[in-house]
Amino acid sequence: MDNSTLFSQEMMIYITFGLVIVVALLVLVVAVYVLQLLKTFMRQGMSEEALAAESAKPSMFASLWDKWNALKPLEEEEAILLDHDYDGIKELDNHLPPWWKGLFYLTIVYGVIYILIFHVFQSSPLQEEQYEMEMAEAAALKAKNEADLVFDFDENTVTQSTDPTELADGQAFFEAQCAICHKADGGGLAGPNLTDEYWRNGGSVSDVYKVIKNGVQGTAMIPWESQLNPIKLRNVTSYVMSLQGTNPPGALGPDGELYTPEN
Ligand code: HEC
Repeated sequence: MDNSTLFSQEMMIYITFGLVIVVALLVLVVAVYVLQLLKTFMRQGMSEEALAAESAKPSMFASLWDKWNALKPLEEEEAILLDHDYDGIKELDNHLPPWWKGLFYLTIVYGVIYILIFHVFQSSPLQEEQYEMEMAEAAALKAKNEADLVFDFDENTVTQSTDPTELADGQAFFEAQCAICHKADGGGLAGPNLTDEYWRNGGSVSDVYKVIKNGVQGTAMIPWESQLNPIKLRNVTSYVMSLQGTNPPGALGPDGELYTPEN
């Protein structure tokens, strides 16, 4: 399964879930509406007294509200009055409202379930494990993607890229890793000048690519193959080639043989 199908599968789950919720809400709204309609019709058939009795009864919502808050009506407060009396300020023995207690018990139940799942049976991974699992997954994906990279060139057929982002990538690597020996502008220090037409190891794109990839044995120019995949190697090579003829100030003199492109 590649990345895109994974992504779309996840998206599909979210979309389906969202749709189900929207539909459920719609059904709820319609049900409430139908109920109201039914009530209206039923009222039409009722006698006067029945109607009066109906409206005297507290609504379902109001009685639920009272139940969950366990509010004592003002007239009954006498019953829960404590004998504390501070200069006329009295205290009521109010209990915690049932909704609050309900939530409290819920947190206890939740806590027990949580401990059972994560610490007793360990059936779900803790954050740290989850992090490590995701990192391992990502590493596997990265390795796979790298193995999947197909190169339509090799060191003999490589051509110079002119793509600005690829050149910028090559430049960034050059300035970070190569500038200490070749100078940031390629003019040369411990390593030779890379901006002129004189080369020790040949000046074709393929020659330069090979030197960067394999290094030059017995010199400070090490192989970079282990740090750069072929695309990156080509980016650096292309950047080096783009330095041709820039003639930076203070550049080292000609070194090696004059290279002239064959055609
Ligand atoms: C530690 C110093 C050092 C570093 C770092 C270094 N080089 Fe070199 N490079 C050299 C030396 C020395 C030579 C000359 C090798 C020889 O004698 O053929 C050289 C040669 C080269 C050549 C061939 C030049 C020619 O005239 O044939 C190229 C191209 C080159 N380096 C590119 C790079 C790139 C790109 C990097 C960074 C990825 C890099 N070098 C990093 C020292 C270095």
